[in-house]
Amino acid sequence: MLLSRLDLIKKEISSINEYVPGKSIEDIVRAYGLDPDSVIKLGSNENPLGPSPMAVDALIEHAPQVNIYPSADASELVDALSGHTGFPAHNIVASGPGMDGLIDGLMRLTIARGDEVIIPMPTFSYYEIAARANGAVPVLVERNVDYAVDVKAVQDAESSRTKVVFLCSPNNPSGNLVPVEDVRAIAEFTHGLVFVDEAYVEFADSSLVHLVNEYDNIIVGRTFSKAFGLAGLRIGYGIMPQWLKSEYMRVATPFNVSVAAIAAGTSALSDTEHLTKSIELVREGREFLKEHIPFEVYDSQANFVMVDVAPLKARDVCESLLRKGIIVRDCTSFLGAGDSLVRVTVGTRKQNERVVENFGEVQGL
Ligand SMILES: Cc1ncc(COP(=O)(O)O)c(C=O)c1O
Repeated sequence: MLLSRLDLIKKEISSINEYVPGKSIEDIVRAYGLDPDSVIKLGSNENPLGPSPMAVDALIEHAPQVNIYPSADASELVDALSGHTGFPAHNIVASGPGMDGLIDGLMRLTIARGDEVIIPMPTFSYYEIAARANGAVPVLVERNVDYAVDVKAVQDAESSRTKVVFLCSPNNPSGNLVPVEDVRAIAEFTHGLVFVDEAYVEFADSSLVHLVNEYDNIIVGRTFSKAFGLAGLRIGYGIMPQWLKSEYMRVATPFNVSVAAIAAGTSALSDTEHLTKSIELVREGREFLKEHIPFEVYDSQANFVMVDVAPLKARDVCESLLRKGIIVRDCTSFLGAGDSLVRVTVGTRKQNERVVENFGEVQGL
């Protein structure tokens, strides 16, 4: 019975490894019998300052209107994003749920069964899931030893079926940017699209978004989940050439950004004080972590740092930190990351001090 029911599911789905999220506070409280107030969550790159108070006010103000559908294309948020980014509205798509929704929409738009996407790994795992679910064959290429994208390997992986090359800048989990000349090179040799994921760009020294004005095959993905502190509302956006927005809107799920998300997102964009505070906290905190965690810590342009705990195993170090109520991310589930990398979200000063102290204690494992 079950076997015949499984016939209903597309063949490609069986090759997908389910997305592995960072652990929740509830998971840890249950597993280790901890006091919830003692647990710090530094495994999902969220904003430790919380949401913008202006966004919270907007949510409350709009709560009585949730019986009404939002605008189908979130045009109020798109207009606000136009002011924020300097790009005209015809280059911007607002998306829910989060940037993940944009990635999925892009796959639905471009992929016919057997088409290929190129993914330099280790990187954010949802590219591969969205690609496979839409019938694509992910072509995984290794990065260089310093986690830079190997442009030659990407070129070697290019084929007549390449539809999208995924570049994450700053990269999750390694924290490094993709140099502009590498993106240009890839955009020029590929006959596919180049998706530049800038989920963490607000914390970085530079952005690649200006390339959207120069290349008709570059699309930049962004999110409100990190610097804007709205991960729970699931809002993302894309900046893309006008021709691509026109095509994208043919397949976009109508009303995919909720009334609450449009209101809070628009307010968060105007709360520059909260944004600046969030960015400063991260910039200071990642230097502190890099200096004081007693293992190799990679330079990062994001709101997390990647720590190599070799010869220890990431799994053991994470387990030991979890027992102390500190949630960090074991990167073993990232394809190509090996088994000794741990990703730590930058927290408040107090949280960072606790992280450093506890990394000191795991040294003797
Ligand atoms: C690199 C990267 N891209 C995209 C996302 C997804 O963002 P969103 O929360 O907007 O779906 C994440 C989330 O962690 C991420 O790390």
